[in-house]
Formats: sequence, C-alpha cells, structure tokens
Amino acid sequence: MQFKLIFVFSLLIFIPNSFSNPVIGQKTLVYAWNYVNYTFQTQEETDEYFNNKYYENVFVAGVKVDSFGRYFVTTPRWKEGIPATLGIVITDAEDNLYIQPYPSWEMNKLGDPNALQSVLGFEIDNQDRIWILDQGKCNGSAAINGSIKLLIYDLKTDNLIQKYVFSESEASLSNSFLNDIVVDVVDGFGYISDSGLPLVEGDELDGGILVYDFNKNTAKRVLNHQTCTQNSSLWISINGEHVYHDQPMETGADGIALSPDRTVLVFCPLTSRTNYRINTEYLKNWKLNDNELVQHVVSMPKLSASDGLAFGNNSVLFVTGLETSSIYSYDNPIQNPSKFEILTSDTQSMLWPDTIGFDHQGNIVVVSNQLHKFLMNELVFNLTNPMDFINFRIWKIYADCDSYLFYSSPQPSSTSSSSSSNTVRNVFIALTAVFAVGFIFLLINQFRLHRKYKPRRMFSPETNSLLN
Ligand SMILES: *[C@@H]1O[C@H](CO)[C@@H](O)[C@H](O)[C@H]1NC(C)=O
Ligand SMILES: *[C@@H]1O[C@H](CO)[C@@H](O)[C@H](O)[C@H]1NC(C)=O
Ligand SMILES: *[C@@H]1O[C@H](CO)[C@@H](O)[C@H](O)[C@H]1NC(C)=O
Ligand SMILES: *[C@@H]1O[C@H](CO)[C@@H](O)[C@H](O)[C@H]1NC(C)=O
Ligand SMILES: *[C@@H]1O[C@H](CO)[C@@H](O)[C@H](O)[C@H]1NC(C)=O
Ligand SMILES: *[C@@H]1O[C@H](CO)[C@@H](O)[C@H](O)[C@H]1NC(C)=O
Repeated sequence: MQFKLIFVFSLLIFIPNSFSNPVIGQKTLVYAWNYVNYTFQTQEETDEYFNNKYYENVFVAGVKVDSFGRYFVTTPRWKEGIPATLGIVITDAEDNLYIQPYPSWEMNKLGDPNALQSVLGFEIDNQDRIWILDQGKCNGSAAINGSIKLLIYDLKTDNLIQKYVFSESEASLSNSFLNDIVVDVVDGFGYISDSGLPLVEGDELDGGILVYDFNKNTAKRVLNHQTCTQNSSLWISINGEHVYHDQPMETGADGIALSPDRTVLVFCPLTSRTNYRINTEYLKNWKLNDNELVQHVVSMPKLSASDGLAFGNNSVLFVTGLETSSIYSYDNPIQNPSKFEILTSDTQSMLWPDTIGFDHQGNIVVVSNQLHKFLMNELVFNLTNPMDFINFRIWKIYADCDSYLFYSSPQPSSTSSSSSSNTVRNVFIALTAVFAVGFIFLLINQFRLHRKYKPRRMFSPETNSLLN
C-alpha cells in the first residue's frame, strides 16, 4: 500500500511540473570566451591586435538583449589597444565569436570625442532604443572634453535619436566613472550611477547619481559624496582571497535598478554590503538639494557586495553577489527588504557576476567575467587552446520574468482573466492527475495479479514485505 502511495505522490508532483515552464534558477551557458576577437576590417588591424597581445586588455563587461534577440556587449577601454567598446556578438560557421562594433567602426574611433570612447553601462528599452553611456576616460587617462556623454540610438534604424554631453560639474573629466544606467521611458528620465573613481590612485573617490531628463535634454548631479554613493570600509574577498591583494578595492555607486512602476530607485556602492533606495519623485524634483535628498534614502543591508542590480517586471530585484559568486532574488524588496533566495551560485563558473540583462524569453542574462582577476592580471589567455581557459561567460538563468521596462500595471479586468485562465489550467491538471492515478492503480493491480509475489531485488526486504 505504501508503495502505491509513493507512486501516486510522485505522479502528483511530476504531472503538474510537466505542464509548467523550465525550473526557476536553471542556468544555460550562452557564450564563453578565453579572449575577445572583433570583426576587423583589415589584416593590419587584426595583426596589430594579436601581435601586441592587446586581446589581453579586453574583458566583456555589460550585456543587454534587444527584441530581435541580438546580444549587445561592452568592452570598456580601461587598458590600451582595445579596438571597439560597444558591439553585437556574432558567430561564424565554426561557432567562433566576434564582436561587431555598434553602431559602426567609425563611431568606436578612439580619440574622437564625438565617437564612443569607453562604454561600460548601457540600457536597451522596450522600444528598442539603446541608451549608451560613454565614460570618456580611456587607458587610465582623463576624458577628452566633450566625450563623457549619453547617446540614444534607435536600433530599428540605427539613427541617433538624442545626444547629451555631461558638463565638467556633472561628470568630472578626471574623477568621474559613469557606471550604469536605468531608464524611465514613461516620464522620460535616465538614472546613472557614478562610481567616482579618481585618476590618481590614493585620492578620495567622489560617487554620485546623475538624473537625466530626456524631454529637456538636461542633467543634474545628486547625492554627491554621500554614504550611499561612497565606498564603505569593506575589503571584499572572493574564494578566500582579498581584492586587491595589497589594498582594498574602493568603488562608489555602481549597481542601479528601477522598480517596474518607476517609483523606486535602488543602487549600491560596489565595495559595500548595503543597497540603498530612494523614491524617484524626490530625484525628479530638482528643487531639492542633497541634504534634503539624503533624508529620503533608505538602506537595505545584504550578505555580499554587488556589482549589477536589476528589477524584473514581476517586481523581483536581482542582485549580484560578488563575494559569494551568486545571484540573489528579492521578491518585492520594498515590502520585504530582508527576504531573499539564491537564484544560482557557483564559485567556479559564476565568478564576478557583473551585469544583468533580460533575454525576453523568461531568462535573466548575466556576464560572469572574473573582473577581480582581470584587474590583478591573473587571467590566462591562450590562443591555441582557448576553450581550456574560459575567462568570460554569458549565462542565461530562468527567472520567469522580463525586464522592468516590460511592465504592464495590473488592471482589475486583466487580473481576473488571468486568474480564471489559471483556474482552468489547474482544473485540467487535477483531472489529468486523477485519471493518470486511476490508470496506474489499474496497472498495478493487473501487475500484482499476474506475478506471484516474487521478491524483487530492487527493493529492500522491508519494502517487499510492505508490498505483500
Ligand atoms: C580574429 O578575427 C579575424 C576577423 O576579424 C580573423 O581573421 C582572425 O583569424 C581571428 N583571429 C583569432 C586568433 O581568433
Ligand atoms: C596606456 O597606459 C599605459 C600605462 O599607463 C602606458 O604605458 C601606455 O603608454 C598607454 N597607452 C596609450 C596608447 O596611451
Ligand atoms: C569643455 O568644453 C566646454 C564647451 O565647449 C567649455 O565650456 C569648457 O570650458 C571646456 N572645459 C575644459 C576643461 O576645457
Ligand atoms: C573608503 O576607502 C578609503 C580608503 O581605504 C577609506 O579611507 C575610507 O574610510 C572608506 N570609506 C568609508 C566610509 O569607510
Ligand atoms: C596553451 O595551453 C596549452 C595546454 O592546453 C599549453 O601547452 C600552451 O603552452 C599554452 N600556450 C600559452 C601561450 O600559454
Ligand atoms: C512581464 O513580461 C512578460 C513578457 O513580456 C509578460 O507576459 C508579463 O505579463 C509581464 N508582467 C508584468 C507584471 O507586466
């Protein structure tokens, strides 16, 4: 009898699962690199890149997917010899990966303040517009005047929609480090984190948030040099090793996320174990000064320092865990700031989860790039056996949601129709289960009639006695 019950229970568990989506947290490798290659235009450019080993200076940082399924990635020009800073991942017939510069090679030309100089953070909105944040600073030098900017392109036509150049007081040519951007396409705002990394090592950093008004094409720097935008005293460790080895890494405001209803901005300094949030109504009110704004900042402690943050359209906040090589999910963190789950975790293949995007098929996409090892020159580059030494990965992880930009606010009619369709689905599943269980009972009884209680070795004697 017990045997039957186990059978029935396993069926009850199995049947509904076979009707639903992939398992939450299931992860699949999308792309893996040892070194990055580009769709060079000439043999000379290819040779210059490989002969000088410039590929050892390139890492994959940001990832976003457009509605056509194209993976856009950034390769910031933090070191020298990086051919392009923004592009689309393409493959050839042998599955070799290349970055095809976007919008063009010309628009990725180093030294031209009107072209893209060094892109880390960017966003692709629900109208397939790409918001490209140019840090300006390349190879550890001050940015050229006019190069720290925001460019918005229409991915359907590749036309430039809007351009904004940040002034020296909004983003310093030497001490700013524009890190990441989220956008509110309804009210027309962009929120940008500035990690404030100084040019001269040892100088104090200067973190902040930039609020960009799309309709007026202007910007305002806020929360400058506040606890919520500066480093804490944390010296982060990964797999038991300090980053860096000799002195703590210090980075200000970095991860940034907008709630799907656009009312709450969450952000965090990288070297800190606290997320901060503020209601966007205060950020959009440009009459408020920083002393007034900090009154509205709320802290939300967490287990690990983070790089990227992102809200799903289901109000789940995805948080990268640098110190634990994990992705955490916080279901409605505004109401339950301390309740979280580990979506995925791997101390080998999820090292330095950097940025989070969405593939519009229910998955989040995450770059794991071992940034700490890249910065400490500890990565191995090997052109002959590249796949034996994977440095950068793009994962997709099932999370049953889309980006915060694909949010439709709940309406009474749509809620009831979706819950009624859920009811229909549940009734269907229940009926199927009942029929299946009945059928199995019949089978088992037939089985018992036709065999004369021969002991079966696959069960323990105890189980066999129960069977009898
Ligand atoms: C890099 O890509 C170029 C084409 O842009 C190709 O000619 C070259 O063989 C590739 N090199 C390596 C080492 O992958
Ligand atoms: C890049 O920076 C390094 C280290 O400061 C320096 O040696 C190199 O000359 C720079 N390269 C260029 C192209 O500016
Ligand atoms: C940068 O350019 C702006 C606009 O042309 C100008 O007002 C400003 O003085 C320049 N700043 C520096 C540091 O050259
Ligand atoms: C940020 O880092 C600097 C340098 O290590 C340190 O002096 C400072 O105290 C840190 N900030 C905080 C708030 O701990
Ligand atoms: C690349 O890796 C192979 C082993 O997989 C090794 O024999 C070779 O020396 C490596 N090459 C370089 C340049 O490190
Ligand atoms: C989230 O996005 C998915 C896919 O576009 C959509 O089916 C779902 O209704 C969205 N959820 C909300 C709350 O907007």
